[in-house]
Amino acid sequence: MTEPVLRMDSVRKTFGETVVLRDVDLDVAPHTVTALIGASGSGKSTLLRCANLLEEIDDGAIWLDGEEITDPRADADAVRRRIGIVFQAYNLFPHMTVLENVTLAPRRVHGASREEAEERARGLLERLGLAAKADEYPDRLSGGQQQRAAIVRALAVRPRLLLLDEITAALDPELVGEVLDVVRDLKGEGMTMVLATHEMSFAREVADQVCFLEGGVVLERGTPEDVFGDPRQERTRQFLRRIVEAGRL
Ligand SMILES: Nc1ncnc2c1ncn2[C@@H]1O[C@H](COP(=O)(O)OP(=O)(O)O)[C@@H](O)[C@H]1O
Ligand SMILES: [Mg+2]
Repeated sequence: MTEPVLRMDSVRKTFGETVVLRDVDLDVAPHTVTALIGASGSGKSTLLRCANLLEEIDDGAIWLDGEEITDPRADADAVRRRIGIVFQAYNLFPHMTVLENVTLAPRRVHGASREEAEERARGLLERLGLAAKADEYPDRLSGGQQQRAAIVRALAVRPRLLLLDEITAALDPELVGEVLDVVRDLKGEGMTMVLATHEMSFAREVADQVCFLEGGVVLERGTPEDVFGDPRQERTRQFLRRIVEAGRL
């Protein structure tokens, strides 16, 4: 079997008294998309933040490409350079142009020259339909454009793994499609991704593996056909029923 890009083994995360992740196991194979679904508060964001070492775990272990990144001796900055993360709110720096936002990490963290960083940035902006926005400030962009720019920024460092945390949740409905299109394209190019999403039909379409979280536990996992089409757990069925009732599947 090929080595997973990301592996979580019995990961436990608490905030004070609250157990937010309990015994979470996860394997993400290269060039696959894993969708994390579950109600608000189920632990999706925390799982992604732990994978990127933005949160320290209490127990268990996490590997990236076979290297244990939760080993105290691991270089957290070096790990984060190999993982791109995009959040719900775009978090672009407002005082920098799109191009400056995108080239910041490659230049500061990866030591790329301005020329090199700008060439790659312009290529990515072009691909994501933002070539004309390179020299604009974020507040001149629509929400969808800002989120695409945030994805470009995450891709600028050639990440091994891309984590996407409800990247369409803050968008007006008519702008959701253009951002999901980008994720579809990235999948087509073989980018390994883990995404937390409320877009169930999108998860069903794009994911290779779906994990349903509840109370910090991966209650059910499988192919989209299994989890959406024939869920084994009553809790999964209830969750999906609520989603259907809300008109989101
Ligand atoms: N920094 C924090 N401090 C305390 N509790 C937190 C913190 N971050 C998240 N939580 C709690 O952890 C649980 C899971 O949150 P989260 O991972 O954001 O879930 P989701 O992304 O699925 O909505 C929630 O109960 C939330 O209140
Ligand atoms: Mg969240």
